[in-house]
Amino acid sequence: MSAQQPQILAIIGQGYVGLPLAMAAVDAGWSVIGVDNFEAKVAQINGGSSPVEDISDDQLQAAIAKGVYKATTDYSSVSEASVITICVPTPLDDKREPDLTLLRSAATGIAPYVSNETLVVSESTSYPGTLRDIIIPIINSLKPNNSSKIYFASAPERVNPGDPIWNQKNTPRLVGSIDHESQQRALAFYESVCDAAVSVSTPEVAEAAKLLENTFRLVNIALVNEFTQLCSASGINVHEVIDAASSKPYGFMPFRPGVGVGGHCIPVDPLYLTWWARQNGGKAAFVESADSINHAMPKYVADRALSMVDASIKRPKVLILGVAYKPGVGDVRETPVSELRDYLKSQGADVAWHDPLVPVWEGSIPVDLDWDCDVAILATKQPGMDLEQLINKGIKILDCTNSITGQAGASSL
Ligand SMILES: NC(=O)c1ccc[n+]([C@@H]2O[C@H](COP(=O)([O-])OP(=O)(O)OC[C@H]3O[C@@H](n4cnc5c(N)ncnc54)[C@H](O)[C@@H]3O)[C@@H](O)[C@H]2O)c1
Repeated sequence: MSAQQPQILAIIGQGYVGLPLAMAAVDAGWSVIGVDNFEAKVAQINGGSSPVEDISDDQLQAAIAKGVYKATTDYSSVSEASVITICVPTPLDDKREPDLTLLRSAATGIAPYVSNETLVVSESTSYPGTLRDIIIPIINSLKPNNSSKIYFASAPERVNPGDPIWNQKNTPRLVGSIDHESQQRALAFYESVCDAAVSVSTPEVAEAAKLLENTFRLVNIALVNEFTQLCSASGINVHEVIDAASSKPYGFMPFRPGVGVGGHCIPVDPLYLTWWARQNGGKAAFVESADSINHAMPKYVADRALSMVDASIKRPKVLILGVAYKPGVGDVRETPVSELRDYLKSQGADVAWHDPLVPVWEGSIPVDLDWDCDVAILATKQPGMDLEQLINKGIKILDCTNSITGQAGASSL
């Protein structure tokens, strides 16, 4: 950073990525403006209530009280910032292709207010070329006339919400920029908020690396989900197999089966890769196959659970335990449990759900654990979920999490 510039950071998007980054930057001595176009969220944050699990209300309130953090819907406030990071969602559209509407609107929103010599970084996950071909042209075409030089970098976020060990600070950050000066500035920024920044030669390398990381998870989860079905058909406990294979000290990494993949990253990012491959005349067949295998898991799980119910029960009552896509968070985006519920219903089941971290899900509210059911499916083992009462009542439970293996009534995937 040049010495005369104030250390003001503007972050566009105050969600799972943007708000923890804001707090990490506050801890590193930055003054942070959090811009979000969702008015109710901005009011909630400024009222000292954190919308994400990884940031406590106390931490947020302390930053607000010190005057080093505020949230706003007003894009013009980015004119005060020497660094602007974009942390908005990059979902799929209804054709399951990249939807960069929010990214474009964030770039369009900030562009008229970008000051000369500002560093603009995209942290949102997207396909290689997004910074260079989408964000930069928008900003350069709309920026103020007196902002002759803007610096640009890509530094894809790697945060894993709910992770007790790895966070924004101690996870090394990939940084790839369009030119040397941008790279120096971006590295200086990330070295101020993270323990380590990893320099790569271009934004496209950083963007592609992020897709590789998450596709790696997708295909390995698909492998183990397929393997689970093969083992189960032969009466072999896949978890014992995974534990056995894990005793090999090199060349193996354990992944566990489950209802499928969820969240804003693992089910989504690999489809940015498959789309990008098609744009370039290629085909990511292996990734597409993994995606199909994972999407077939909710049906497999539902069929397994229904097979545990007495055949004389015509309308089985099924209790789904945990609807968030992973333990420790209330995030239900892309949760595979939606497909599980829909398939169970299509088979005539009466379905209810319970999740201590999710107050409302797709227009429905949770039931208590004493809801009378014929079978329960442990989809996500949330902290604070007291399964003892189900086990003590002798309820049959299909455990997709390998957390109650061996308990009475429990069958593992
Ligand atoms: N959640 C994760 O675990 C994670 C991890 C690594 C990377 N990412 C990536 O980071 C990006 C952000 O994801 P997230 O999980 O923080 O999303 P999020 O939905 O939790 O938060 C995004 C925020 O951006 C706001 N927003 C949307 N469009 C806006 C706009 N045009 N202007 C201002 N604000 C806007 C939304 O209101 C929301 O509050 C995505 O590209 C995602 O793939 C997410």
